[in-house]
Amino acid sequence: MAGNPRTFADVQRTVLSCHKESTAEDKMSFYDSWSELYEQDVMFLDYRAPLLVAESLAAVLHEDRDKALVLDVACGTGLVAVQLQRLGFRNLHGVDGSEGMLELARSKSVYQTLQKCMLHTESLPASSGGFVCMTTRTSTSNQLYKKQLQAVIEKMEQKGLWERVGVQEIEHWEKSTSVHEDEQDSKYISGIIYIYRKSRCQD
Ligand SMILES: C[S@@+](CC[C@H](N)C(=O)[O-])C[C@H]1O[C@@H](n2cnc3c(N)ncnc32)[C@H](O)[C@@H]1O
Repeated sequence: MAGNPRTFADVQRTVLSCHKESTAEDKMSFYDSWSELYEQDVMFLDYRAPLLVAESLAAVLHEDRDKALVLDVACGTGLVAVQLQRLGFRNLHGVDGSEGMLELARSKSVYQTLQKCMLHTESLPASSGGFVCMTTRTSTSNQLYKKQLQAVIEKMEQKGLWERVGVQEIEHWEKSTSVHEDEQDSKYISGIIYIYRKSRCQD
């Protein structure tokens, strides 16, 4: 017999517990422990980011999708790659800071390579050319990650290593799990999709 079915309240508690984690290590331990239930839980949140990211990239690349190298930053369990594969992308590479999430991504066999990498403190893999997909929630609880991500992007742009392909703000990113995140009385929190293109080989 399966255990009690998961409820929105369970998901809410889980997501809120993530907001309490202070250090990067704590955050990664949280994602390690959430990995098995992550995909089930985000369905409760009406989480459409993976589909939207894949569609954003597909909108700018009509040909040779199977050859285009795509780096999926903070790839989690691989939901973005599943959507990209559906749209014809095959040369997919992922990085994430959580070994638990990476293990789930590995089990999908949709990435050519997967690497553990902490954004902001470690360098992203230096493969030549290709696209970089990144997303962030823009709710108050996720400001640190948003800032870290934007700092990485700014640095890569300033060095001339990445050029912007598209940045898209999404109002209905996922259902809010907290009254504090309930921006402007909406029941959804917002997010951003960043699509960049690597200008040349990185050191
Ligand atoms: C909300 S999940 C999104 C995963 C995937 N992109 C998706 O749409 O399903 C956030 C992911 O970011 C990773 N992450 C959070 N902070 C990170 C950091 N500083 N460096 C690397 N990965 C990080 C987590 O391990 C987790 O897998």
